[in-house]
Amino acid sequence: MTIPDYAEAPPETPTAWLDRWLIEAEESGELNHTAMVLSTLASDGAPRARFVLCKGVTANGVRFFTNLESDKGHQLAGDNRVAIAFYWSILKRQVRIEGTVTRMSDAEADAYFASRSRLSNVGAWASQQSRPIATRAELEAAVEAVSNRYGESVPRPPHWTGFHVHATRWEFWQDQAGRIHDRWTMVPDGDGWTMWRLQP
Ligand SMILES: Cc1cc2nc3c(=O)[nH]c(=O)nc-3n(C[C@H](O)[C@H](O)[C@H](O)COP(=O)(O)O)c2cc1C
Repeated sequence: MTIPDYAEAPPETPTAWLDRWLIEAEESGELNHTAMVLSTLASDGAPRARFVLCKGVTANGVRFFTNLESDKGHQLAGDNRVAIAFYWSILKRQVRIEGTVTRMSDAEADAYFASRSRLSNVGAWASQQSRPIATRAELEAAVEAVSNRYGESVPRPPHWTGFHVHATRWEFWQDQAGRIHDRWTMVPDGDGWTMWRLQP
């Protein structure tokens, strides 16, 4: 069993640790290394899960972007608690984050929106995310109509923005032989972190 150097006492904050694992996942050749499962709570109390892309590790968590009028947008407006999981198959690692979300400022959302491709930004207007549509042709017509409405620069739709996840609990998981895996939980504690090892 290969135990990483930091196994007994990880020297880093959870955000630095996640940053490092994201870089190592990308370097290992993982496709979509920023993909993470985002679980929200619906108004009936049932969990809902889907992938979104992690668009940055922040001071106390991660951020992601979506449509406020989507199912998840409504769920987050009703209950801002989330659970997130990353998995990188090549390095056999998992990171779990639990916490709450807040909407980011318009200025921060604008800055990220401006960095995306024009087609992605047209799509943010054209797609009424999570709503039914009869045919793909209808969707493509909506994309074309939006595309014709704007020049090169597409403004950010008011219903499209980003969220900051404020983590209250982290878990790092590293596969080891024979399923004798390494797991560490980290929770905020004053200005620092308390960490403990969990049985696999
Ligand atoms: C790898 C991957 C990344 C995705 N990234 C995002 C994303 O960053 N934001 C987003 O709104 N949807 C993203 N999606 C689509 C969502 O999984 C989902 O289909 C969509 O947001 C609607 O979810 P909802 O109906 O629960 O709101 C992604 C899907 C995949 C498979």
